[in-house]
Amino acid sequence: MAAPSPAVLAAFEKAKGFMPLHEGLALYDAAVEAGALGLPLLEVGTYCGRSAVLLADAARQTGVTALTLDHHRGSEEQQPGWEYHDPETVDPELGVMDTLPTFRRTLYQAGLEEHVVALVGRSPQVAAFWNAPLGLVFIDGGHTDEHANADYEGWAPHVAEGGLLLIHDVFPDPKDEFTGQAPYRVYLRALESGAFTEISVTDSLRVLRRTGAEIK
Ligand SMILES: C[S@@+](CC[C@H](N)C(=O)[O-])C[C@H]1O[C@@H](n2cnc3c(N)ncnc32)[C@H](O)[C@@H]1O
Repeated sequence: MAAPSPAVLAAFEKAKGFMPLHEGLALYDAAVEAGALGLPLLEVGTYCGRSAVLLADAARQTGVTALTLDHHRGSEEQQPGWEYHDPETVDPELGVMDTLPTFRRTLYQAGLEEHVVALVGRSPQVAAFWNAPLGLVFIDGGHTDEHANADYEGWAPHVAEGGLLLIHDVFPDPKDEFTGQAPYRVYLRALESGAFTEISVTDSLRVLRRTGAEIK
């Protein structure tokens, strides 16, 4: 199993974010495997760069580029008054969330800037004009059905044959998840499409391989 260096792990653990270490290690291993295809690795849901640190290092190790996409205004559950809100992510002048500066700091401090392209915008809007194959797509964006389905529909078709689709926050039991089960429903949708085959489960992180052409 590919594992990040102690320095990269330290940068991951220092970064604000929601991914626990054991899921991060599974993400890293999948990203190194997918990087061997020689295609970019794309994440939907940068937040402050915690998982992006691992994708960036996997990209560095395999000679590809990591792309990470976010509008940087936060998901529903990260807004003021909600369970996952962090007041430090609010722009003091505008009074709205802006995680882009923290993300850039995270990446700079980790020495990984040159391996990452940050896409700042709404996932469906960027996906609408995307037209290039990807070695890996990691869906970790909005948790509503609207957002999770749009991420799947916009990005899963770009996973190359043999490439990987990763979905985070997959909770089959509703009592385990406060932000809803949309990622679980998208995970089922991917499996039922016949285009993806599951290759690993690490807690709420699912890794699927593109094994079929047609996506429904
Ligand atoms: C759960 S956080 C990502 C966590 C991050 N991967 C980590 O490891 O810490 C979800 C992110 O998705 C972003 N997001 C939600 N809906 C989005 C959309 N439609 N387009 C772009 N970004 C979106 C939010 O702004 C938020 O930063």
